[in-house]
Amino acid sequence: MNKELLMESARKMKAKAYVPYSKFPVGVALLLKDGAVINGVNVENVSLGATNCAERTAIFTAISNGYKKGEFEAIAVAGDTVDFLPPCSICRQVLAEFCSPDMPVYLTNEKKNILELTLKDLLPYAFTDLEM
Ligand code: THU
Repeated sequence: MNKELLMESARKMKAKAYVPYSKFPVGVALLLKDGAVINGVNVENVSLGATNCAERTAIFTAISNGYKKGEFEAIAVAGDTVDFLPPCSICRQVLAEFCSPDMPVYLTNEKKNILELTLKDLLPYAFTDLEM
């Protein structure tokens, strides 16, 4: 699947976001190495700290479906923002747990441009399972 189709899938997901508090929908499409696409949305809570971002929803769904570290091919993130919407810092750390540093991360903006980064661009010097 190409990045345009993956991003389209992320964009469509925004409609399912549960965002009564922020009104800031985010949709994610996660491409697996076997070609499957797993989606996620942000799910908010009246206790705001209990909110789960779209990226983590997608990763946790993939893990719950039996996918393992190293089986993630790319991720696309879509919001309604003017500028490119990047994953928050907690989501970057969660991505670093399961995805390789060179995994493509696709962001989009109001004009529907796609910015292609890697996870390492977003989280250099990531804290991972370092040798001791
Ligand atoms: N949010 C995401 O789902 N992903 C991001 O990349 C940034 C932020 C959510 C959390 C919250 O529901 C809303 O966006 C506003 O912060």
